[in-house]
Amino acid sequence: MKLKLKNVFLAYFLVSIAGLLYALVQLGQPCDCLLPLRAAAEQLRQKDLKISQLQENLRRPPPAPAQPPEPEALPTIYVITPTYARLVQKAELVRLSQTLSLVPRLHWLLVEDAEGPTPLVSKLLAASHLLFTHLAVLTPKAQRLREGEPGWVRPRGVEQRNKALDWLRGRGGAVGGEKDPPPPGTQGVVYFADDDNTYSQELFEEMRWTHGVSVWPVGLVGGLRFEGPQVQDGRVVGFHTAWEPNRPFPMDMAGFAVALPLLLAKPNAQFDATAPRGHLESSLLSHLVDPKDLEPRAANCTRVLVWHTRTEKPKMKQEEQLQRQGRGSNPDIEV
Ligand SMILES: *[C@@H]1O[C@H](CO)[C@@H](O)[C@H](O)[C@H]1NC(C)=O
Repeated sequence: MKLKLKNVFLAYFLVSIAGLLYALVQLGQPCDCLLPLRAAAEQLRQKDLKISQLQENLRRPPPAPAQPPEPEALPTIYVITPTYARLVQKAELVRLSQTLSLVPRLHWLLVEDAEGPTPLVSKLLAASHLLFTHLAVLTPKAQRLREGEPGWVRPRGVEQRNKALDWLRGRGGAVGGEKDPPPPGTQGVVYFADDDNTYSQELFEEMRWTHGVSVWPVGLVGGLRFEGPQVQDGRVVGFHTAWEPNRPFPMDMAGFAVALPLLLAKPNAQFDATAPRGHLESSLLSHLVDPKDLEPRAANCTRVLVWHTRTEKPKMKQEEQLQRQGRGSNPDIEV
């Protein structure tokens, strides 16, 4: 029994030594596990190369952008907008100001029908990021629309538009924004944009290069799909209108623009508050241009880029009801 245990131990010892020797011999042999290692190293090298290429690209200056337009070379568009306090005033002015902010080199002349600047309009202008001049003039009582009178009886916004023309001619009056009128020799064009119309961004580029008076059609006006000049061989030969076609300029306020130098050269050109119905536009334009010299724009007056939209007057029946119960909408929240 004793002897047997000794033999087993010996056998175990021999086998272990043999195993150890085999392992030692194997260590010195070249191993085929090096192949995948080499492949991995090669992959890493490739990736390093790629990364340094990308880093190189990043260091290189970006390609020069296409020649940027020079805004200083563009004539300025002076947009004259009369406005008056009413329920939809802020909505209209937000909409218009956001259209105007799409147009480069534009200066907004916003003229309130009020004794002075109102907080609503002042705040809106300050927040608009537009270049603007804030003006205010109250329409004289005799000219104001009476309660229940339809809107077309008296021309609206006459005093306000004339106030803006006065400012352009250096007679001051600004109550906010840019106070100095355009310096002599300024290239520009003047457009009368009421706050309820709808304007395509394209319209402003059509009018920008106006030498005298440029014209185009206006949509949804005068009881027609559109009104506008009729053009033959690039010249205005008549007007498409259903109403008093014999007016000197049977056109809507939104359908023309005047070169600033021309307006400044004719200091008497302004709107006449006593002009008969529908003759307000003519009262200005007859000082400035012969109808045959009108400059057709918008593809020879075949494209409509401005619409005489009218905002419906909101009904306040429920508001009045709640106010009687002392539960009206919070008056501190501006609408
Ligand atoms: C307008 O009409 C004139 C004369 O027919 C033509 O030479 C010109 O190219 C037209 N302009 C546009 C923008 O269609």
